Amino acid sequence: MKRIVVLISGSGSNLQAIIDATESNQIPGQVVAVISNKADAYGLTRAKQHNIAHQVIDHKAFPDRESFDAKLQEVIDAFNPDVVVLAGFMRILTQQFVEHFTGKLINIHPSLLPKFKGLDTHQRALDAKESYHGASVHFVTPELDGGPVIVQGPVAILAEDNVDSLKAKVHKIEHQIYPYAVKLICEDKITMTAEGVHYQQQQLPETGLVHEV
Ligand code: GRF
Repeated sequence: MKRIVVLISGSGSNLQAIIDATESNQIPGQVVAVISNKADAYGLTRAKQHNIAHQVIDHKAFPDRESFDAKLQEVIDAFNPDVVVLAGFMRILTQQFVEHFTGKLINIHPSLLPKFKGLDTHQRALDAKESYHGASVHFVTPELDGGPVIVQGPVAILAEDNVDSLKAKVHKIEHQIYPYAVKLICEDKITMTAEGVHYQQQQLPETGLVHEV
């Protein structure tokens, strides 16, 4: 069984999807710890409900990004994880931290990367009159939202869509592709290489695997 540590800052609905997939044996792994930088993150309650170790490390208690990340790294390392999952963890991480966990640190971003890195992705997709929007699971590298993509879940943008409807659709697809990506990693089918992502020894395209619409 692979050991999964999940970092959150908020609701943790992606955390829930991953917990559910481990508990129903779809993922050969278990969530061994949930760490939040916010004491009021609802995801902590989810961890408690599933008897998962959980801890708050408040970034405001540290003088700088380096000292916060060093503490975070120390706490995560103590759980000896195979996979470290960023699930709505709203902190930019230092290069030192990212490099320490290279190849086992993954994130979910609400856009079809490399489109719309950064914030306000739903509004930006609407403004750009895109036909499709969605979410991407990617390995984390020092470049923000720039690491190689493992899987994308596209959603169609309809004429009647607004930010809220689009956000809801993207969230729904996130709950499918994030557990799927974690499962593939736990099954040792996905690895990060210098060229990008390998899936069962095959190099994936820039878009990663595509979840069917
Ligand atoms: C998701 O929309 C994800 O794309 C972004 O943060 C949000 C987290 O949502 N990185 P939740 O806390 O998992 O509900």
